[in-house]
Amino acid sequence: MKNLKKSCRIILLLLLTILSLNCSSSDESAEPLTPTNPNTNPNPSKITTYNADVKSIIDNQCISCHTIPLAEGAPFAMRNYAETINGVNRDLVLRVKSNGVNVMPPAGRLPQATIDIILDWEADGFKEK
Ligand code: HEC
Repeated sequence: MKNLKKSCRIILLLLLTILSLNCSSSDESAEPLTPTNPNTNPNPSKITTYNADVKSIIDNQCISCHTIPLAEGAPFAMRNYAETINGVNRDLVLRVKSNGVNVMPPAGRLPQATIDIILDWEADGFKEK
């Protein structure tokens, strides 16, 4: 009986040791996930919306071509929220932040502060309002 108690205690100790080892190793494996891309949410303290922040950018930078009737060969319009979400589904964010020849607008990359507003809108879930 005494021996049984003793081995129970040893098993318990072993289990606790394994558990604590497990915990510390899972902490380590979580570490590589921690660093985030600083561009993921440029302005975490602000909720960026289409109505308040993005519509004016589209109106100033995109609508000259992306309207109805379509101009300069643009393949779709962005006159309102629904049409702009259609643009999101056609890689609007990739086009705006592109460093390549497919950048939008075609005349050249927007100022980084403007691109950041679009990246923030993305991080906040492409909200309308
Ligand atoms: C001078 C005219 C012009 C302006 C301004 C312009 N675009 Fe475009 N856009 C085009 C043309 C032409 C295409 C088709 C050729 C291509 O895909 O590059 C296009 C294609 C796109 C596409 C890809 C559509 C698809 O399905 O392939 C997206 C997304 C886009 N534009 C977004 C934008 C955004 C966002 C802006 C403003 C920041 C903008 N464009 C400003 C002319 C323009």
